Amino acid sequence: MTEVDEVIHAVAVIASKRDGRELTDAQIAWVVDAYTRGEVAPEQMSSLLMAIFLRGMTRREIATWTRAMIDSGRRMDLSGLRRDARPLATVDKHSTGGVGDKITLPLTPLVASFGVAVPQLSGRGLGHTGGTLDKLESIPGWRADVSADDMIAQLEDVGAVVCAAGADLAPADRKLYALRDVTGTVETIPLLASSIMSKKIAEGTESLVLDVKFGSGAFLRDIDQSRLLAETMVELGSDAGVRTVALLTDMNTPLGLTVGNAVEVAESVEVLAGGGPDDVVELTLALAREMLDAVGLTAADPAEHLANGRAMDTWRTMIAAQGGDPDAALPVADHCDVVVAPADGVITVMDARAVGDAAWRLGAGRSRPGESVQSEAGVTIHAKPGDRVRAGEPLFTLHTQTPERFAGARAVLVDAVEVSAGGEPPARSLVLDRVSS
Ligand code: URA
Repeated sequence: MTEVDEVIHAVAVIASKRDGRELTDAQIAWVVDAYTRGEVAPEQMSSLLMAIFLRGMTRREIATWTRAMIDSGRRMDLSGLRRDARPLATVDKHSTGGVGDKITLPLTPLVASFGVAVPQLSGRGLGHTGGTLDKLESIPGWRADVSADDMIAQLEDVGAVVCAAGADLAPADRKLYALRDVTGTVETIPLLASSIMSKKIAEGTESLVLDVKFGSGAFLRDIDQSRLLAETMVELGSDAGVRTVALLTDMNTPLGLTVGNAVEVAESVEVLAGGGPDDVVELTLALAREMLDAVGLTAADPAEHLANGRAMDTWRTMIAAQGGDPDAALPVADHCDVVVAPADGVITVMDARAVGDAAWRLGAGRSRPGESVQSEAGVTIHAKPGDRVRAGEPLFTLHTQTPERFAGARAVLVDAVEVSAGGEPPARSLVLDRVSS
């Protein structure tokens, strides 16, 4: 095909979707492959992504788009994992992203402590949602980059690995995600579902539990949209032979009492030590039960392994296997500032998006891929919805290495919390629904 043919071909694909037509399998396979190889220009793919955002895709189109993304790289095979000559079952968890969502940290070693392999390929934060790798990198010495051979060895020895996806795993997603992030095309079901599931299917896990979030701190605010996302991803996983279930969880309020990097690691270690905030423990256990069920360990009680130290032992081994020192002190910010309650009363709302933005503005997140983040930056929360506060009492402590960031963080927190003189808000469940095939 000449350069001119390719441009015409790309324009035809864009025009089809712009005009509300279904793309053919051949069009999708071609455009994803050609974009990955650099033959379709970023401005053309941007235009196509926006057309998809506005026009949507059928389930067939989403399935084909996902397959094209998987085919852009290699598909790992974890079926040969063995311990003591016995096959190891594999199960992974993926969250659609939230604020204070540190669940991967306690969950991975917890599930692995039952003799299951948990290959947790994770990402970095972009925008208001944090990234698991950024959080773990606040542990002195810990490395996110693990070769495929070392990943397999660690899964066989320790059972748990949390690391960056290799460059050859769904490379189309790497390019597409970076483009979506700067073109306002992240928050749409076809592109969210294909991005997440292409990586998870390519990773080679046998079973997958999805934490699909809705609410102000999630990519999709509306629960019905999130349910549709969950159904789409469960179908994509099941069709690819991955046993997949999804929990729909509330992300209107930050999870736990910390949002940032080192502060979230410290809170995760509290959970592994048998303590920690109730909501973090509840979600960790709910997801752990699903993961253990998925591999047939229906009688296992994950709460036991938080209480008896087995999960903590696996955490320490997992961190050390990647060069980290589990006993090292975590970095602490040089500068702190406090935001206080505006009035006496009960907190009825704490907007997760605003708290995530504040942590990002303090330096916990990045605005461009590749930017470095501050391990020390973040927010500590002193009271949550349902708690009674008095005017002037601390609501948040802000942490940063760069105090000029305080003003921006305080600005987004001004309207983040509602305090009511009336009674307590109705208790809300964290896990709203379960979607399976
Ligand atoms: N996480 C992903 O991997 N992809 C998205 O599109 C959003 C969150």
